[in-house]
Amino acid sequence: MKNQLTEEKVFKDPVHNYIYVQDQTIWNLINTKEFQRLRRIRQLGTSYLTFHGAEHSRFSHSLGVYEITRKIISQFERHGYPDWPAEERLVSLCAALLHDVGHGPFSHSLEEVFNTDHEEWSCKIILEDTEINRVLKAVSDDFPEKVAAVIRRTYPQPIVVSLISSQMDADRMDYLLRDAYFTGVNYGTFDLERILRVLRPHKGQIVVKESGMHAVEHYLMSRYQMYWQIYFHPVTRSSEIILRQIFRRAQELYVEGYSFEWMPNSLQYLIQNNMTVHDYLKLDEALIQTVFAQWAEEKDPLLSDLCDRFLNRRLYQYITIDNPDETLLNEISDCFSSIGMNPDYHMEIDFPFDLPYDVYRPDKKEGEKKEKAPILLLDEQDEISEISAKSDIVRSITGLHQGEYHLYYPMEPLKKNSHLIPESLKKRFRID
Ligand code: NI
Repeated sequence: MKNQLTEEKVFKDPVHNYIYVQDQTIWNLINTKEFQRLRRIRQLGTSYLTFHGAEHSRFSHSLGVYEITRKIISQFERHGYPDWPAEERLVSLCAALLHDVGHGPFSHSLEEVFNTDHEEWSCKIILEDTEINRVLKAVSDDFPEKVAAVIRRTYPQPIVVSLISSQMDADRMDYLLRDAYFTGVNYGTFDLERILRVLRPHKGQIVVKESGMHAVEHYLMSRYQMYWQIYFHPVTRSSEIILRQIFRRAQELYVEGYSFEWMPNSLQYLIQNNMTVHDYLKLDEALIQTVFAQWAEEKDPLLSDLCDRFLNRRLYQYITIDNPDETLLNEISDCFSSIGMNPDYHMEIDFPFDLPYDVYRPDKKEGEKKEKAPILLLDEQDEISEISAKSDIVRSITGLHQGEYHLYYPMEPLKKNSHLIPESLKKRFRID
C-alpha cells in the first residue's frame, strides 16, 4: 500500500501551532470512530471544576503526542543519525497517536473503582475487531501486534518505547504544555523546540546533548510545578473523591439488587466487570454526565446527593491533618455518625504524592513495574551520565516527597448540627 498522502493534511493546534499528517495510515487512524471518541473524553478529568479552561480532550493531546514524536523522528532523519532505525518510523507514529485510545470517561477515578486499566484497553482496541485494527492490518498482518507492543513497553527496539514512554517522552512533553495552556498556568511551560534540537539517538536509546541540560532542568521544574499546582490541586481531589463515591455507591446498590430508574447497558457491564471492547467504546463523558443527571433524581439519598454535588459543584471541604492517628479518626467518625452522616462516605483521607523525577535505581526489585528510562546526557567525549549526577537542580527535586494528609467532608451537615459537635472538633473543622 502506498502510504504517503498526495496532499499533506494539517490541524490547527494551540500548542504546536500546526500538526502535520503525511501518512495515509495516520490519517485513516484519526478518522476511525474509536479515535474520534477521544473528543468526548477530557484530558484532565474533573480539573475543569477547578480550572475552568481545562476542557481540552484526549483527542487534542493524542494529536500533540503524535506531532512531537513526528518532529523528533524527522530531526533524526534530517541529520541522518545512524543510530536511528529508519524502518521504525510508522510504528512509532502509530503508537504515539494511539497510546491513550483506551482511556475511559474520567479515567483515573473509574480505574480505581472498577479496577480497569486504560493501557490494557488501548491494546484490546488495537488488537480486536475495530476500525483501528483494520487500518493497522492494512500495513501488515503483524502490525497491530507491533503497535500494541510499543504501548506495553515490550517492543524489541527500546528506542521506540522511550519516544513514547520514558522520563522525558513525547507524552509528558505534550501534556505538560497542553495542560499549562488550557489551565492558564504559565509556569508549566518550557522550551520544547530547544529540547527537540538536543535529542540524539545513541546506541539504542535517546540521549540529550549536554549543552541542552538547562532546557531539561526547566522541563523537570515545570513538571514539578504542574503536579502540585494542577494535578494534585486539593479542590480537584475533592471532585475526584465525589466521582469515585458515585461509582462506588452505584456498585453497592447494584450488588444489593436496587432497581435504578436508568442504567445504560455499557455501565452495567462495567459494574459487573464483564465488558467487551464494543461495550467499553460506548462509554464517554457525555454518557456519564447524562447518567449523573438522571441519578440525581434517584430514590437512594446518598447516590442522588453525590450526583447533585458533582453536577452542581457542591464539593467536599477539606482540612489538613498532620497525623491521622486512629484515636482522632474514631472521634471524628463517631461524631459524624451521631449527626446522621455516613463515615464510609462522608470522611475520606487523601494523601496525594508522586515523585517529580525518578532517577534510575539499579536495586529495583524484580516484579515491580518497569522503570521509565532516565534522562541521559551525552558529553563531548561521547560519555553518558544520568542527569541528576550533573545537575544540582534536578538532584534537589529528585525523590522529593512533599505532601500532607487531607480529610474531606461535606460541610453542610456539620454546620446544621453545630450544637451537637464537641468543641475540639468544632475548632478543627472551623465551625463557629
Ligand atoms: Ni498521554
